[in-house]
Amino acid sequence: MKISSLSFCIACYSVALSGYTGSAAYVPPSNISPPLIDVVGPRTQNGVVCLPNSFSLQDLDPMRPKSVPTYSLPEFDESGYIGPTEKIDDDMIELMNTLTLEEKVGQMFQVHAGMLLGCDGLLNITAAEEWFDKWKIGSFLETFANQGGRWDISSPQRWANLTNTIQQLALTRGSKIPIIWGLDSIRGANYIKGATMFGTPHSVAASFNREHAYVCGKVTAKDTRAAGVQWAFAPVADLNVNKLWSRNFENFGEDPYLASEMVKNSVKGFQGNYKKDRTRVAASIKHFFAYGAPVNGKDQEPRSIPMNELLEFYAPAFEAAFGAGAATVMEAYGTLNGQEVVSSRNILRDLLRDRMGFHGMMVTDWGEINAQYYKHRTAFSVSDAVFQSMNNTSIDMSMVASDTSFAESLIGLVKNGSIPMSRIDESVGRLLQLKKDLGLFEQPYSDLSLIDTVGSAQDVEASRQAARESLVLLKNEEDFLPLKPEEKVLFIGPNINSTRFMSGGWNIHWQGPSDLEGDVVYDGYGDTILLGVEKVTGNKVNWVTGYDIDGKMKDNYDVVVRMARKADKVIFGFGERTTTEIPGDINTLNLPKDQYKLVERVALETKTPFALLLVQNRPFILGELSGYADAILNCNLPGPYGGLPIAEALYGKFSPSGRMPYTYPKMEYQNRVTYFTPIWNEYDPEFAFGTGFGYNNITYSDVTVSSKDLYKGKPINVSITATNVGSLPQLEPVIMYTTQLIRREYVPERLRLRAFDKKLINPGQSVSFDFTLSAEEMMFWNVDLERILAEGPVNITINAGNENAKVTTINLHE
Ligand SMILES: *[C@@H]1O[C@H](CO)[C@@H](O)[C@H](O)[C@H]1NC(C)=O
Ligand SMILES: *[C@@H]1O[C@H](CO)[C@@H](O)[C@H](O)[C@H]1NC(C)=O
Ligand SMILES: *[C@@H]1O[C@H](CO)[C@@H](O)[C@H](O)[C@H]1NC(C)=O
Ligand SMILES: *[C@@H]1O[C@H](CO)[C@@H](O)[C@H](O)[C@H]1NC(C)=O
Ligand SMILES: *[C@@H]1O[C@H](CO)[C@@H](O)[C@H](O)[C@H]1NC(C)=O
Ligand SMILES: *[C@@H]1O[C@H](CO)[C@@H](O)[C@H](O)[C@H]1NC(C)=O
Ligand SMILES: *[C@@H]1O[C@H](CO)[C@@H](O)[C@H](O)[C@H]1NC(C)=O
Ligand SMILES: *[C@@H]1O[C@H](CO)[C@@H](O)[C@H](O)[C@H]1NC(C)=O
Ligand SMILES: *[C@@H]1O[C@H](CO)[C@@H](O)[C@H](O)[C@H]1NC(C)=O
Repeated sequence: MKISSLSFCIACYSVALSGYTGSAAYVPPSNISPPLIDVVGPRTQNGVVCLPNSFSLQDLDPMRPKSVPTYSLPEFDESGYIGPTEKIDDDMIELMNTLTLEEKVGQMFQVHAGMLLGCDGLLNITAAEEWFDKWKIGSFLETFANQGGRWDISSPQRWANLTNTIQQLALTRGSKIPIIWGLDSIRGANYIKGATMFGTPHSVAASFNREHAYVCGKVTAKDTRAAGVQWAFAPVADLNVNKLWSRNFENFGEDPYLASEMVKNSVKGFQGNYKKDRTRVAASIKHFFAYGAPVNGKDQEPRSIPMNELLEFYAPAFEAAFGAGAATVMEAYGTLNGQEVVSSRNILRDLLRDRMGFHGMMVTDWGEINAQYYKHRTAFSVSDAVFQSMNNTSIDMSMVASDTSFAESLIGLVKNGSIPMSRIDESVGRLLQLKKDLGLFEQPYSDLSLIDTVGSAQDVEASRQAARESLVLLKNEEDFLPLKPEEKVLFIGPNINSTRFMSGGWNIHWQGPSDLEGDVVYDGYGDTILLGVEKVTGNKVNWVTGYDIDGKMKDNYDVVVRMARKADKVIFGFGERTTTEIPGDINTLNLPKDQYKLVERVALETKTPFALLLVQNRPFILGELSGYADAILNCNLPGPYGGLPIAEALYGKFSPSGRMPYTYPKMEYQNRVTYFTPIWNEYDPEFAFGTGFGYNNITYSDVTVSSKDLYKGKPINVSITATNVGSLPQLEPVIMYTTQLIRREYVPERLRLRAFDKKLINPGQSVSFDFTLSAEEMMFWNVDLERILAEGPVNITINAGNENAKVTTINLHE
């Protein structure tokens, strides 16, 4: 092969030099053409130089928000119900009646920002104009940064420039109705540079302090609105049932009551009085319905849950959101009990509208209507899919998200009489009302004064305070913690020097920053644990990576073990990659073998005591390591500002006060464990729901009740006094549970969370915690879908699972 190609080449050469006779003086051949080798220049389109197909997003937007240290916002009355109602204002009905079918349908769909993006990574005005002129589109979602834009994260200024440009086009073309932009601002406006990121919802839930859910929502709303975006796809009202699920971190834990309280406060924070307050956004409660319990733990895969359990456990957080005035709701991916949610009359009309009485706007999740045809095989065509969703449900907007199929199909279905105009008007009415309520008809543009407040020190401190209260101390033998400044501590793990690994998915990008970007986008907008420890101790930190974020060996383990031997104490950071949704699917909760091995070696080959610092989305199985460890601090994902709070907790600047918002499994088969399992069931996790303690010894009085008998309409008072016999001030959460010891007809749960409160107790101080319990709360949904009360003895337990738990027994009467 080689030889023949060589000889071929020689042949070529001899042809090329055929004019050369050998002895005469050399004359360059001028009449021979060179071989043609095409090279490709920069890609251009209509004269525009396009971005290469693959490039690293290091080209940062040089602009930053001013981040004024403090600010104050106009205040509006936020008490009472201020959510959407059945009534559509006359002016909106009048406006709707002037619209053509095409203009109405345009209001009913949204496409993602990539549809507005030129190949140069910048806004393509021609494309934008087409969406208005031809499709009369009413909404966009998402960020250029996820679609090959030029900046990996845009400043609020650049965002406002973009949304204002689009809004101006919307107001002058097509139906001339302002657009509504939607963004996944889930805990902080995570797609806007400099916006204050908070801990993830499962972190906020661990604080057992409602205030943090509210403040996080409020700051997120303001920063989102600064960008000219009026709609956040948050909060999430799903339950953390399957611990394998990639989206654990987006929920407020596994308990219906805890999730309800957090969601309610989050909605209030996001929306406030959103019909008047232009610093707030519309919340979108998601994902309706029962998305958090996929049978196999994979995202978007089927759930199978009987209706009575859906009403008992999964509905309350949504009802709480609606009760708090949630303006919009998002339906859930995939199937529930074998039915496609996106076309289920049962779920999206009977349950959502009739039973729960929700009057606001409903949007689909990404591409879900079409997925009936492309993926779930429940429709014969896209048009059939649109027909089923429109005919059977009350969906108002399709997040299509990247084509015009919805509009084309729906226009056809109305023209041939398959879908009546009344169905279209039902949705368009709700959509226009939402836009009016958000003030888009008076002030469609972003408010410049809000831009300056993005990243304010005031907000950063709120984020840090939420992080402080979210840290859950689960083990602390022989007072391993707090660390003393003079101790030689070795820190191990990649997330010790990383802000992104404290933050989870949905930040900067859908799947978080890439390895190439690293932490660069947090430059100045966060602190690593390393920086936090330096700030607290004033010393350089002894830190080694050890393993990478996937748990693979990175440094020589013999060397690391030797370093551990020389230290007084070791702190291992456990974590995982920033992911969400399907890219975050995993097959096991077991820790990576390499990482496990290193900790085991330090445990068995050294005498150095060590702690595990869990900074993760999912509760990975600790195995023997939980026994070996002297201390365990569960940080969940405290966000990029989590570094200082973690360091402060480690060095005893405050006493931890978080509690587990979900059950931490001990064995792999427990990946679907929840604490509200039937009373006689096994409940043997690594860490039970609601557990956690501080550095102080808090002692409790007995529980007192105003009556031992509980009747309907006659709630009782339950009180307990907590005393701080330690030496640090203690923020103390107190959690009240009930257990119905005997319940005819329907097996009682081990425990049900009924109330919680958190108060500061200074050293030596005693503080009373007072709750009420009603018989109505003790009702449950039976299989005939009746909510009934069954008499029987009931234990009231305070702080179940903790050493200082207290219990008393009362009688519940029908
Ligand atoms: C902008 O969009 C138009 C219409 O879709 C398209 O023809 C053009 O190539 C796009 N320009 C760039 C630079 O991508
Ligand atoms: C956006 O920024 C560009 C470049 O500075 C400017 O020409 C344009 O007027 C701005 N548009 C808006 C709506 O702010
Ligand atoms: C759609 O509605 C029809 C008619 O009421 C009903 O037979 C069908 O079951 C519904 N489909 C779903 C998925 O709800
Ligand atoms: C469409 O909905 C109507 C009720 O609004 C129902 O009578 C009809 O059966 C549905 N059609 C299909 C094919 O689902
Ligand atoms: C109505 O139009 C839709 C979309 O063009 C089509 O799929 C459907 O078959 C039509 N139905 C009737 C009854 O003509
Ligand atoms: C921490 O990581 C940054 C990059 O994000 C790097 O510049 C720095 O040197 C690291 N710190 C230490 C102590 O290695
Ligand atoms: C906490 O205080 C109580 C009452 O003083 C005491 O009985 C108990 O041993 C203390 N526990 C710890 C862990 O110090
Ligand atoms: C419960 O406490 C409240 C507030 O202290 C009090 O007004 C009420 O009378 C108490 N109820 C009972 C049944 O003791
Ligand atoms: C219920 O409370 C009593 C004390 O009032 C206690 O003895 C009993 O063990 C408790 N039962 C359960 C199942 O917690």
